[in-house]
Amino acid sequence: MTLTLSLATLSFAHGPALAQGVNTAPPPLLLGAAWYPEQWPESRWDADLQLMEGAHLHVVRVGEFAWSTIEPEEGHYDLDWLVRAVRLAEKHHIAVVIGTPTDAPPAWLTAAHPATLRVDAAGRPAEHGSRRQFNYASPEYRKFCAAIAEQLARRFGHDPDVIGWQIGNEYTDESFDPATRLQFQAWLQRKYGTLDALNRAWVTAYWSQTYDRWEEIPLSSAGGNPGLLLDHRRFVSDTWRDFQQVQIDIIRKFADPRQFITTNVGGLGWSDNWDHYEITQPLDLAAWDDYVGEGHLNVARNAAMHDFARGWKRQNFWVMETQPGSVNWAPVNTTLDAGETRAMAWQAIGHGADAVLYWQWRDALNGQEQYHGALVGPDGTPLPIYAEISHIGSDFERAAFALKETKPVAQVALLVSYDSRWAVDFQPHNRNYDQLEVLLGYYRPLRDEQLTVDIVNSDASLDNYKLIFAPSLNVISQDLAAHLLTYVQQGGHLVLGPRSGMKDEHNSLNVQRQPGPLVAPLGGRVEQYYALDAAVPVSGTLGSGTASLWAEQLSANAPAVDVLFRYGKSNGWLDDQPAMITRRVGKGRITYLGAVLDPDLMRKVVAWATSDAQVKAEFPAVLAGVEVCRRAAADHTVFVLINHGPIAAHVTLPTAMNDVFQANRRVESVDLVPQGVAVLTTDSR
Ligand code: GLA
Repeated sequence: MTLTLSLATLSFAHGPALAQGVNTAPPPLLLGAAWYPEQWPESRWDADLQLMEGAHLHVVRVGEFAWSTIEPEEGHYDLDWLVRAVRLAEKHHIAVVIGTPTDAPPAWLTAAHPATLRVDAAGRPAEHGSRRQFNYASPEYRKFCAAIAEQLARRFGHDPDVIGWQIGNEYTDESFDPATRLQFQAWLQRKYGTLDALNRAWVTAYWSQTYDRWEEIPLSSAGGNPGLLLDHRRFVSDTWRDFQQVQIDIIRKFADPRQFITTNVGGLGWSDNWDHYEITQPLDLAAWDDYVGEGHLNVARNAAMHDFARGWKRQNFWVMETQPGSVNWAPVNTTLDAGETRAMAWQAIGHGADAVLYWQWRDALNGQEQYHGALVGPDGTPLPIYAEISHIGSDFERAAFALKETKPVAQVALLVSYDSRWAVDFQPHNRNYDQLEVLLGYYRPLRDEQLTVDIVNSDASLDNYKLIFAPSLNVISQDLAAHLLTYVQQGGHLVLGPRSGMKDEHNSLNVQRQPGPLVAPLGGRVEQYYALDAAVPVSGTLGSGTASLWAEQLSANAPAVDVLFRYGKSNGWLDDQPAMITRRVGKGRITYLGAVLDPDLMRKVVAWATSDAQVKAEFPAVLAGVEVCRRAAADHTVFVLINHGPIAAHVTLPTAMNDVFQANRRVESVDLVPQGVAVLTTDSR
């Protein structure tokens, strides 16, 4: 079942049958925290919830590591304490998300059922004492997960204060045990049918890798045949998806449809252990864990990660965890500056989050994360960050009405695919080629033009975009090429970046050279690629600058192909050769940029592309450091302005707007102190 979750649906249904529900509907914009009542005496819970209420927190996530408390012995469940915790939260107008505790199985389980333990790539079984020690592929483990999820869903599936479910926690480590290897071989057999087909797809004649029996195929995550490696990542994605589906099915059976099901995607958003589109597809809501770690908010990177998370399901999302100031796992666990936590929360909202939850509410007295940031200290009194987070909570209450039912709407998209990410990272060819940095090279100038940017899977529907960039779309199959070509023929502008179209869906080289099946419509191709250890000059009609890391020598071999850049003098091979070409095709245009350009030149490329595609921002350029985010509904638009810079900013608005933090006063300009935020609406309600 798929629910469409929006701010509008996230209010509580009330009626006589729901006498126990949260007795005041919480605001649709939610601030919250991860709360672990099982770690504290019950006599303390009310004081904690009172403090949460005081900070305008309206949601807690509970339970995701509480297996040994919920099921202290095999088959003996105790959920009464959790019911009491939910009732107390209700008393404080706090809604609850229940996490299934399957990221941390109890000792009795793994001791009695050792096949449920994960085995690492070196063949060592995991031990009890940390978390994530389970084998995600083990049918036996999944039975225990289904059983505990069923107990939770039977008890809380109709609880009016429980608004949703989180399955597991940050799916992380796969297993390399013999049973999982058999599953991989069976997965391949289902996919290819015959060994002949597999041998052909992977070109196993190379180094005599030809397989005669399915059992010969290794379970490998490194250093193997590129076709095998790509299929292994797909198998890992499918296996996590199946792991998750067992719990979705059981929860859905017992839970009200109004309760959403999600999981929290970790790995700082960009992780590639598995395909985020695959895993979030069966969920009602995407959620990710937004951590800075050491240092300060990297504004563009973090904004891009929100846009990426919004793209998983192409709808608003939650930040299920974020840091209250600091973490405990960075090399140096610095703290965000005063005000920065608030700016960061508003950045999430500006990019489409409908909830932000801090990890964690209170410092645990023991356990591996004693040094992590929290809102409340071990003594149960507020830490300094509590006041700032209360400020965010009261902001959210004030802004909820304006933001209700709004979402970011983009005319420009960046395309990514996990196949491409994996294929490049298996064989980077230049160890400094960082795909996220290459992507940000396109993203930053777009955001500097104050444009809303979607980051979406390459096979997503592209109908709403005037302009798309595909920075490192390494794997382009015939089907993907047809999808992209239709977009272009119907009037879109597709800009392919370096390394595009080198591979097919089996991670084999495309015989047309790059960009594979798009060589013919482009009217040109890549003659040779070069990994660079020094910058190479580039110049042309759009300006001059340099390429670094990667440079492709292009050729134009069809009429009406324009060469926009050529390389200057460098290794002899590249000298005076095309670096960027473009051609009108159908009602649209294809462009190929074969190099990683310096930021200034990239800005000119983006300015040319946006003007050619007639993409315009609704907000004029503002001072550097001031981020403008836009969320729209049918009848009004909301702008979130955040001053990430070190100096105060005076921003003149393009038109008079209501200032939400000044009691909706009509204003024509706003002044933002460093880390200052303004929420402005065109709504005249
Ligand atoms: C992750 C986990 C949490 C906690 C935090 C600490 O996001 O999901 O359980 O360990 O990291 O930053």
